Formats: sequence, C-alpha cells, structure tokens
Amino acid sequence: MTAERPSIRIFDTTLRDGEQSPGCSMNQQEKLRLAHQLDRLGVDVIEAGFPIASDGDFASVKAIAEVVRRPIIAGLARACQPDIERAWEALQNAARPRIHVFLATSDIHLQYKLRITRDQCLAQAREAVRFARSLCEDVEFSPEDATRTDPEFLCRVLDAVVEAGATTLNIPDTVGYTIPSEFAALIETIRRRVTGIENVTISAHCHNDLGMAVANALAAVAAGARQVECTINGIGERAGNASLEEIVMAMRVRPDQYPYETGIVSEQIFAASQMLSEITGVPVQPNKAITGRNAFAHEAGIHQDGVLKNPLTYEIMTPRSVGVPDSKLVLGKHSGRHALGIRCEQLGYQFDRRTLDEVYRRFVRLADKIKHVEDHHLLELIRDTHKPSTSATPLIEPIPSAMAAAVGISTPERVAPPEPAKPFPVAPATNPFGAPLPVASEGHHEQTQQEDYLWGV
Ligand code: KIV
Ligand code: ZN
Repeated sequence: MTAERPSIRIFDTTLRDGEQSPGCSMNQQEKLRLAHQLDRLGVDVIEAGFPIASDGDFASVKAIAEVVRRPIIAGLARACQPDIERAWEALQNAARPRIHVFLATSDIHLQYKLRITRDQCLAQAREAVRFARSLCEDVEFSPEDATRTDPEFLCRVLDAVVEAGATTLNIPDTVGYTIPSEFAALIETIRRRVTGIENVTISAHCHNDLGMAVANALAAVAAGARQVECTINGIGERAGNASLEEIVMAMRVRPDQYPYETGIVSEQIFAASQMLSEITGVPVQPNKAITGRNAFAHEAGIHQDGVLKNPLTYEIMTPRSVGVPDSKLVLGKHSGRHALGIRCEQLGYQFDRRTLDEVYRRFVRLADKIKHVEDHHLLELIRDTHKPSTSATPLIEPIPSAMAAAVGISTPERVAPPEPAKPFPVAPATNPFGAPLPVASEGHHEQTQQEDYLWGV
C-alpha cells in the first residue's frame, strides 16, 4: 500500500510580485488573459494584485475575482485599515477571496523603513489581521523580511496573528538572503514554537537574489510548508521569485526526494510561459530551466545522436510533459551527421551515404562561420552541393513531396545505390579520456556513431 503524498498548494504571484519586476507591468485585459491561463494551469491561488496601489490594479483584481471562479483569488494589503478595506472591496465578489496582509518584522525594516518599535509592530500585525478576518474568512499574514528577523520575535508575531485569526502564515525570504538548510530550520522552529500552528498552513515565499529561491522553497516544503508562492518564468522583484515551473517539475521528476502532489497541469506550463513573455515583451532567458528555448534543445553531436536513439539519454522529462511540442535538434558546428541526416529528411531530402558525407563536410564549414544553421541555409547548401553541372547523375533526390510527408501521406522511398566502402577520417585509437574506441565495423550504424563521435563533440 502506498502512503498518500501530501498536497502542496501552489500560490501564483505572477500578477502581483511578478508584475512588480521592471518591464513586466500588465494592463487589466492582459492580467485577465493570464489569470485564465493560470486557471487552466491549475494553480490553487492567484494573487491578482495590490488593490490600493492604483485604480488600475484595483480594477484588475476586481475583474479577475468576478470571472475566475475556481482558484482562490488573493489581494495584497499593508497592515492598515485603508489597504485592507480596498483589498476587500476588490475581492468581495470572488468565489473564494483571500486578503493577504503583510508587515515587516526585521529590525532593519522596523528601524529604517517603518520607524516603529517591535511592540508597535506586534500590535499592528495583530490588529490588522483581526480587522481583515472581520471581513474575510481566509486571511494570510506575511512577516516581511522574515529571514532577517530575530526568530524569537518572529514567533511572537506569528503567535499573535494566529490568535487574531490568520489562516495562512507565509514566511518570506524578501531579499533572497537565506539558504536551504537555514530556511528549513526556520520553518521547523515555527512549527515547534507557534501556538495553534497545526490549524494554519505554512507557506514559503522565496526571492532569487542568490539563485536559491527554488532550492529554498523546496527545503521549506520538506520541513513542513504546505504552500509555495512562486511565479511563471520566475519573474519578480530584482532577481525574481521562485519559479513555478521549476518547483513543480522538481516534484514531478524527483518524487523519490520530493514526495508531494500539486494540482498543476504541467502540460500548460509552456503556454503560460509563452503568454507571459508575449504580454510583457520580456523574453525568457534561453537556458532557463523548463521554459527556456534551449531547455530541450540539443546541439552537441553525441547528445543529438543519443536523443535520437532514446530521449532518456539526455532528457529527464519529456518536452510534451511541460507542453513543449518536441525537443529540438539545433544544427550547429557541434552537430553530428545523424541529426543532419534527419533534418534533411524532414526537409524532404534523403541521401545516400556518400552524398550525406559531402553535405556534412560543407555543413560543418558553414556552421563554423554562422553558428546556427537554419533550414533555409541547409536547403541552399544542399542545392549548392549538387548543382547539375557538377554531377552527371543527381545524387540527391527530393522525396516527391515534403508537403505530403508533413501531412502524413506516405511517399515512395528512394532506393539508395550500393555504398562504396569508405574509410574513416583519421581514427584515433583512444577517445579524449584515453579509453579505447569501439572497433569500427562494416555496419552503417556503428560507422555513423563513430563519425559522430569524431566530428560532433
Ligand atoms: O517578498 C516579500 O516579502 C513579499 C511580501 C509582500 C509577501 O512579496
Ligand atoms: Zn516578494
């Protein structure tokens, strides 16, 4: 019998914390579009905005609350009456509204930003939560800069807000300062020390200033947090927030280490990422885990060869599992003939071995100059390699209709002429690590492998 995995609530703050990042602001219509996509993605909570911040933000939160009915819709408020009232005004028509109240608790923030004492902070937090709770059943409290707050004082504030009616305690690493072991220990301390903690949900909200937001969020989950706050593509203040797709896929790919469930429909991840990037005009970093354009691209010959034989060789999840149509073989100077041959076939050309050798030689020279060889370059190169004047019998022959292949109509296969025996180009006896190379056989398959190895590293 398998034990049930704890369920982790995914709180998406792309529309609030994410929107606070430079260049990422969105208008009401754009926010609504994205909110619908977040709904399709299966997030549990959408933090739709900060209603007191502007009339536009208020209107967006209100509109989302009125039309997106499945997830909880949260609105942010500072720990004061006008903010909380404004948030409630925006949220009150939601099917499942949540007021999210925050107040800084670290001495640095109390002294320099808020200019209040610890006692004043504690009283303000308690009053704010009590007031929010008088309006709404679901109240989240965040002690801003929690990871730089004296843990003793932090627990006193949390005690007070739980008593005042908070239903979720969110622990923010506001400045991205903590590390996984320290953050896990903080969550454990809170679980041990705060009275009534068993009746509230502990949440983690991590920023990425040291590149550890996802690791910190996962460490918090392992220590008992049951909600994580995150954003699509990891956007957010400064270096961003923990990335939703990375947290979710870490749990999917490594259930042995992270035995938790989320309600995320992972096949909707890529669409959400693309939509956000299209709306904000902020491109996704090419090597961004899960959603970057290179996340499933393979250029090195050995990798391409491996992936073509079995994707498991270099892919720990399928592109389709996150909604990416298919892995991409990028043709560049590291590519091998196996990948080149397949791309040529996709373009409607099937070559005999000798012809592919020639196309490959030219391709490598071109790739050295232009980095990425696009399809139109390849077509030009193929045409150039086989001008009728240079060859009495055409060595290449377009498959009768590449279009036909694309729409799934089978086309007669060209029978390749018998291949003349062809020696390898300078074959070293050992590989770069000193291990003996496989003995070359007459078989086409081994020969391709060996040449990919020699030319494609
Ligand atoms: O980073 C932070 O502290 C926040 C809070 C408002 C939760 O975004
Ligand atoms: Zn934040």
